Amino acid sequence: MPCVTCRCVALDAAVAVALRDLAAAADAPLDDAVERALAAPGPHAIVSLEPPPGTARHPHPEVALLVSAPRDATGRRVAGLLVHPRRRGTSRTRGVRTVAAALAEEAPAVAAATTLWVAGDDPERDVALIEAGWQLDREQLRLERPLPAPEPEPVPGVRLRSYRPAIDDEALVAVNNRAFAGHPDQGGWTPSRLAAAIAGRRGFRPADLLVAETEPTGRDLLGFCWTVLHPPAGPRHGPVGEIHVVGVDPAAQGRGLGRLLVLSGLAHLHSRGATTGMLYVTTTNRPARRLYEALGFRPQRRDRAFVRPANAPPGER
Ligand SMILES: CC(C)(COP(=O)(O)OP(=O)(O)OC[C@H]1O[C@@H](n2cnc3c(N)ncnc32)[C@H](O)[C@@H]1OP(=O)(O)O)[C@@H](O)C(=O)NCCC(=O)NCCS
Repeated sequence: MPCVTCRCVALDAAVAVALRDLAAAADAPLDDAVERALAAPGPHAIVSLEPPPGTARHPHPEVALLVSAPRDATGRRVAGLLVHPRRRGTSRTRGVRTVAAALAEEAPAVAAATTLWVAGDDPERDVALIEAGWQLDREQLRLERPLPAPEPEPVPGVRLRSYRPAIDDEALVAVNNRAFAGHPDQGGWTPSRLAAAIAGRRGFRPADLLVAETEPTGRDLLGFCWTVLHPPAGPRHGPVGEIHVVGVDPAAQGRGLGRLLVLSGLAHLHSRGATTGMLYVTTTNRPARRLYEALGFRPQRRDRAFVRPANAPPGER
């Protein structure tokens, strides 16, 4: 018999069905890791629900905070928020505050390891999260541009090729870690984390990950661009091609490699059928934002990441 006052449960198959209905009604974009948790429910992903489990209206939650299983050895998790459109005004903000405070109260270790991503500008939602003890950590923009993009121009002394599984992993991770030093998600990778991230991408092909190296020797790996093709969001949309990660070794930056890698990645995505190019960039990343703007990308949405330090005050439900 579930506890009627607790709101947090493991993401089992029955809860996943209810959440999929809620996600369809809410039409909210979910972080990749959260979507994957929904597709493969298990005891390590957890959900904070409103109304709470065990009540007569369960299993038809109207507000849910869905937390992925730990993403890697660091134990970090990501979470997404789902709210049924029938919840409006104070009913909606109360629900958001309740699920966000309940996670911190009932599963404090999980909350302290979680980055909660919310999509789009919504000041009332953000105030509700702050009232529940969460703090704004960072913001990212979703940028898009139509495809095809202009053809890439070659950079002297550099050639591109497809990623070679296992063979390239160490050099690629080294470049990644130099390019993303100190980055909360992309920094400090290991070859096994790269292998796990690739294994988690259904339909990954080595050609989706472009590698730039010195020509003619191929001695140094200089940068990379990982592309991901997403299915159309609906019947009136075309497939979306994402520049998932692009990084250039700091020693090779400023020579046109970033431009070459992004345009080559877009050409690859277009050849696979993508009609829109898309990527996410942290608002404070000026070099990357200038590059993307110069390549015709324009902001479509602003997303915010909230975190909850372990010693944060309890927050209101
Ligand atoms: C963003 C990044 C890939 C750019 O690579 P790069 O090889 O240095 O870029 P390019 O030499 O092709 O420069 C292309 C344009 O980017 C912009 N740019 C690049 N570096 C810049 C800098 N330090 N400051 C401002 N603008 C910069 C400029 O608009 C430049 O065009 P210009 O030379 O005509 O002025 C590289 O800085 C990097 O790896 N950064 C760390 C990882 C990262 O943040 N990746 C993007 C995550 S979304």
